[in-house]
This record gives sequence, structure tokens and C-alpha cells, in this order.
Amino acid sequence: MAKKTVKDIDIKGKKVLVRVDFNVPLKDGKISDENRIIQALPTIKYILAQGGKAIIFSHLGRIKEAADLKSKSLSVVANRLSELLEQDVVFVPETRGKALEDAIDTLKNGEILMFENTRFEDLEGKKESKNDPELGKYWASLGDVLVIDAFGTAHRSHASNVGISNNIGTTVAGFLLEKEINFIGGTLENPQRPFVAILGGAKVSDKIEVIKNLLKIADRVLIGGGMAYTFFKAQGYEIGKSLLEEDKIDLAKELLALADGKIILGDDVITAKTFDPESEKNVRSVEDIPSDEMGMDIGPRTIARFEKEIKAAKTVVWNGPLGVFEFPRFAEGTRSVAEALVEIKDQATTIIGGGDSAAAVIQFGLADGFTHISTGGGASLEYLEGKILPGVACVDDK
Ligand code: 3PG
Repeated sequence: MAKKTVKDIDIKGKKVLVRVDFNVPLKDGKISDENRIIQALPTIKYILAQGGKAIIFSHLGRIKEAADLKSKSLSVVANRLSELLEQDVVFVPETRGKALEDAIDTLKNGEILMFENTRFEDLEGKKESKNDPELGKYWASLGDVLVIDAFGTAHRSHASNVGISNNIGTTVAGFLLEKEINFIGGTLENPQRPFVAILGGAKVSDKIEVIKNLLKIADRVLIGGGMAYTFFKAQGYEIGKSLLEEDKIDLAKELLALADGKIILGDDVITAKTFDPESEKNVRSVEDIPSDEMGMDIGPRTIARFEKEIKAAKTVVWNGPLGVFEFPRFAEGTRSVAEALVEIKDQATTIIGGGDSAAAVIQFGLADGFTHISTGGGASLEYLEGKILPGVACVDDK
């Protein structure tokens, strides 16, 4: 990787600011998926083992009103981090001020503290999210070096990543950021072929730039999920009550023309009369979707077609579920594709974009079956679009 990492700097005795993405889902005040915390552990452990003083911080959710200050405190995450590290993590329930500065000053080598949700600074004036220059400067004054391990936040230009970096002499990547850049960036730059991209999810509009970019790089682009129906409509099929973005039909036609045969949509779907987990399921050819039914999943012939492409692949990138996987009855397509990817693990590089596709493979209990599951939802999508991510760009070059 052309960016400096924690291995390239001296850490002993330094106050090391570590920007992580601990924006984890909370259910009834408990963490329901701790993957982002687990994935950041190697960097934190390394800093502590080298005798650094680790100052950890992250955002959690979006802060719009005073009530959010209670429900979106990072204290629950700090507790879990402490359990995982088997070490005390001092939690400072502030984002600035004397209590925080004193706590940092009393840290000894190899000790760790975490401060409160950086987006608490958004309550008045969106200081964190809009990268307020004073805030970045202040946070930079609290440490000697900045380590960025928050790949999930890399598409945001926040005070806590870009802002600090602008005001501190040294910014390096942590191991998670390095891994994400190597897997996603490396794949896009130099994929082993055949390179198959699988795209799903509800909306074409969310994936336009990804489709365009991947059409340039991939050998095949398999499309399923809600957005497939706008493409079917563009091909002239009637799609009943399925998801449709009327204003994207022309764009879908353009993409199909641009694709020159690279896009594979399949030719059958699973439909239901209502959007309901118990709804009766029907297998329909795309030319036979009744007007009172909606598409819920890819069909068996499409699954077989997708599996054939996957089995021949040397690189696969997948972003977005292929059906309503949250309802077990309509999870077959997403599950079959996940299983096909697990089968080729030894012969291919398989990368799961974050967000819903990551949630799906974790739900299926298949999380260990891939080369890499990204911790970035929006960030991995923007990376696949070919965009420069500000939270990566601000890391010092080697
Ligand atoms: C994410 O979960 O995608 C990141 O943590 C960024 O969160 P955001 O979309 O609220 O900026």
C-alpha cells in the first residue's frame, strides 16, 4: 500500500489519536453486531503493545436533538472494548474540555481511553460532520500522531479524520484501513480474471455510479434485488407491483447498451402478492409476472446462472442483497449466492461490501467463508464507484 501505516512510525510514549468507526447497531441499548469493534482490535492492541497511549474516538449514529445525547453515548461500546481487550478502558463522557485533557495527561504508556461520540459536536452547528476547522485543530492538540482505522467513515470529511489530519504532523493508517484498501482498492486496480461483480439492493439510483465503474473493470455484472425490476421494465417486460424507479428506465436502457452483454439479469423471479414474510411464493419467468404480484427474490434458473458465473470466477465483489433476505422464505437467492462464494473461497478472492450484504452473510452464519467482509457500507460503495475517499486521501503517503 502506498500509504504509511502504524508500522512506519515510532509509537512508544506517544499520545496516539485513533479514529475508529464504532458506529455499531444498538438494539435495546445492546450492541447487535460488534464486527467493527473486533476488526479494529489488531491496531489498538499493536499500539498498546508498542507502549503508546491510545486515545480512541468514533461517531455513533446521527445527532439531531438533545435526546440523542443519551441514546447514542459510546459508553456501552467502551465497556465492550474493555472486555474484548481484557484491559481497562477509561471512558471520558466529553468531547472536549479539562476532564478530557486531564485524563489524557494521566495516561501511562500502554493505557487506553475513549472519549464520547464525536458527533455530539453536531448538536450545535454540525461541527464534526462539517469539519469545523477549530474542532479539528483542538482534537489534534490532544495527541502527537493520528492513526485512522475508520474505513467505514472514510467517505466522510469530518473534523475527527480530515480535520485532525490537517493539523497534526503525522497521519497513518491502522491495520483495518490497510486491509480494506488492499482488498477493495487492490481488486479494482488489478483483479484476477474472470472478475464478477454482483450487485443487488432496492434502488438503481443508489448503484448507478458503481454499475458504471464496474462495467469498465469487471467481466460480468450480475444484477438482482429490487433494482433488477427497473432493468426488466427497460427490457420491455411487465413487472406487476415490483419495485420500479420510473425515472430511471431510460438510464437502465443506457446501462444495458453500455454493458455490451456484461450485465446478467437472469430470467426468472420469485414473486408474492403482498410484502409479507408469510406471503405465498411463486416462481415466475420474467415475461410472466402477473399484474398483482411483486418480485421478492431471484428465481431458481437465475440462481443456477449466477452460480455458474461465480464458479468460474477468480475475483468476486458483491454489494447488495438479491432479494428480501430478511424474510426466510425469500432469502434463497441471497443465501445461494453466498454459499456459492463460500465454495470458491480457496480458488478466488471474494469480497463482500458492507451494509446489507455483510448483514446477510452474517445472518446466514457464513461470515468466515469469504476473503474479506468490508466494514464500510457507504464507504465501500463509494470506493467501488472509483471515488477518492477523503478519510484515505488524508493519510500520509509512504
Ligand atoms: C456508516 O455506518 O456507514 C458509517 O459509520 C458512516 O455513518 P454515516 O452514514 O452516518 O455518516
